[in-house]
Order: sequence, then structure tokens, then C-alpha cells
Amino acid sequence: MSEPDRLPAADVPPGTVRRAGDWAVGNRGADGAGEDRYFAVSRRCRHQLADLSEGSIDADGCLVCPWHQSRYDVRTGEMVEGPRGFLGYHGPTPVYSQVVQLLGRIARLRVRRATRQGDDVVLE
Ligand code: FES
Repeated sequence: MSEPDRLPAADVPPGTVRRAGDWAVGNRGADGAGEDRYFAVSRRCRHQLADLSEGSIDADGCLVCPWHQSRYDVRTGEMVEGPRGFLGYHGPTPVYSQVVQLLGRIARLRVRRATRQGDDVVLE
């Protein structure tokens, strides 16, 4: 199955994340200088498979899962902070969070290089 390899840059303004096939494509905005501004990672959270294209970007430029707020380094796909909750529970789960984070460091999100080319963001 072919995967989309580009989307209009106008669809990914600074601070947003969009769905592009199996990928969550985002724009880290002004703080993400040059080619680091755009990113593309696989869409399914390593915790409980939430759709990361519905996530958000925090002040550090990390992708935050919409369900339990696990945080990902979009340059490596590594989970840098584990979930705050599980299933329908949202709250502190310190030990559980650390165990999931450890797994998320090993089983990273897939990462594609995403760059602006003309009016498009192109995934390589
Ligand atoms: S599904 Fe992403 S943190 Fe739980």
C-alpha cells in the first residue's frame, strides 16, 4: 500500500498535528528551527494505541498523546515521559508510568524525515 508522501504546508500551521495515512505529521513552530520544524511519526501511541495525529505539541516540542499525555521526542520516536493513567483513568500512576516509558524507549515510534518543499511538507 502506498503512503502519502506530501501534504500542503498550509494544512500544518505551527503548533498543529495532522493525519497523513499512517503518519502523524506536525509543525513544531518557530522553536523548531529549519528542517526540525516539521516531523512525521507513526500514528499509534505505544501505550494504548491512541491516534497521535490528534495529539498536541508541548513547549519543549514534544508530541503529547491525547489520551494519557505520554510525551514523545519526535526526532527519535522515543517516549520521554510515560502515561498519566490507563484506559478511562486519568491521574498519577508513577510506577506504571515509568514501566511504560521504559518500554516506549525501546519500542520507539517510527520516524520519517519531513521537510518543507515549496508549498508542501514532504515525507521522505
Ligand atoms: S494511549 Fe497514549 S498515553 Fe495512553
